[in-house]
Amino acid sequence: DAVVPFYGERQAGVTTRQQEQMMFAAFDLTTMDPLAVQQLLGRWAAAAARFTQGKPVSGGSTPANRPPTDTGEGIDLGAHSLTITVGFGASMFDERFGLRDKMPAALRPFGKLPGEGDMRPELTGGDLCVQACADDPQVVFHAVRNLTRIARGTAVLRWSQLGFGRASATGTGQTTPRNLFGFKDGTRNLHADQTADIDRYVWVDDAATDQPWMVGGTYLVARKIAMVIESWDADFLADQERIFGRRKDSGAPLSGGQEFTVPDFHKTGANGKPLIDVRSHMALAAPENNNGVKILRRGYNYTDGQDPVSGRLAAGLFFVSFQRDPAQFKALQTKLGAGDLMNEYVTHLGGGTFACPPGVHSAGDWFGKRLF
Ligand code: HEM
Repeated sequence: DAVVPFYGERQAGVTTRQQEQMMFAAFDLTTMDPLAVQQLLGRWAAAAARFTQGKPVSGGSTPANRPPTDTGEGIDLGAHSLTITVGFGASMFDERFGLRDKMPAALRPFGKLPGEGDMRPELTGGDLCVQACADDPQVVFHAVRNLTRIARGTAVLRWSQLGFGRASATGTGQTTPRNLFGFKDGTRNLHADQTADIDRYVWVDDAATDQPWMVGGTYLVARKIAMVIESWDADFLADQERIFGRRKDSGAPLSGGQEFTVPDFHKTGANGKPLIDVRSHMALAAPENNNGVKILRRGYNYTDGQDPVSGRLAAGLFFVSFQRDPAQFKALQTKLGAGDLMNEYVTHLGGGTFACPPGVHSAGDWFGKRLF
C-alpha cells in the first residue's frame, strides 16, 4: 500500500503525484485562545502522521464505556497515498490570537476578482483549511471526518467539498486526465520534476516573504467552479475547441501538433485570425501572455448530485492551485474573469486563499509551529 511520507521540509499534497480523490474542508476557529489553536494544530499533525500511514487516530484500545477515538471506517483500508495539507486563512490573523504582525502581506485578501461576483460567503474563506488527497474516497473522508472531530471545541467545519477524479497532472509521465467539459486538463501544468520552475513559482523562499515562518511554504487558492454542463453539452464541437484553444480528442493546441506541442499563439489561419482564439482559456492563461506567470494546478472534478432548484446535475471543477504568491492567481483570474470564452459555462461559487506553512519535520512539531 502506497505511503507518502508525512514528515518533511515541505508539506505533502502540493508536488506529490496527484492522487485520484480529494476532500477539502475549511474551518472556523471557535476559541479565542492561541494556545488552543496550537494544541489543535499539534493534534492534527499527530493524527495526520498516523492517517498517512493508514493508521487510526490512536494506537490503544478503547474501553467499552467510551466512544472509540477513531470513527473506524478507515480500518483495513491502508494509506492509499493519503496526504494532508493544512493552510491558514487571512481571518486567522485578526485580533483574536495576537497574530496580526505575523500575517504575510501576500495573504491580504484581494477582494472580488472579475468573474467572482457570485461567490457565496457560506462557501468562502475560513480560518483553517485541510486538503486531504488519496487514491481511495473513504480514506480522504475518514481523514477529514476525524480531523473535524478532533477539532471539536476549538474549530467547526465552515464548508467542505468532496472531489472525484483528479483534473490535473502534476508529474511528467502522469497521464493527463479530463475535466467534466471532456477536455484534457493539466497538459501545460507545472510538473513536480520541473524543479527550477517549482522553486520559482510554488515555494516561498527567504526573498519571497516578509514572514520567516512561511519560508518553505506555499499559498493554496481554491475555487468551487460550477459548470453549466447541459448548455455545454449542446454546444458544437468546434466552438468547444475554440473556447479552450485545444482539440477535444487529443488535447493538441489548435495551432497544430500533438498534446504537448508548444502552442503558437501567433499562427494564423486562412482568414488571417489566430488559430488559437485570443479569448480562449488557454491564450488568456498561458505564461507567454502573462509576463511568464505560472501556477501549479491541482484540481478535482466534483458533483453535488442534483441542483434542487433547476433539477440539473450540479457539477464542476474544484480548482486548486499552489503558488508562492496568490498574486499569481489574481493576475490570471483577472484576465480570465474579464475575457474568457469559457465564462458563459462556469460560475465561481466559493473558495479561499490559505497560507500553507512549511512541512512538519518530526513528531512534536506541528503545522505552523514557527508562527506562534
Ligand atoms: C489550462 C480547464 C479554470 C488557469 C487549462 C486547460 C483546460 C482548462 C482544459 C488546457 C489544458 C492544460 O494546459 O491544462 C479549466 C476549467 C476551468 C479552469 C474547466 C474551470 C471550470 C481555471 C482558473 C485558472 C486556470 C480559475 C486560474 C485563474 C489555467 C492555466 C492553464 C490552464 C494557467 C495553462 C495555460 C497554458 O499554459 O497553456 N484549463 N480551467 N484555469 N488553466 Fe484552466
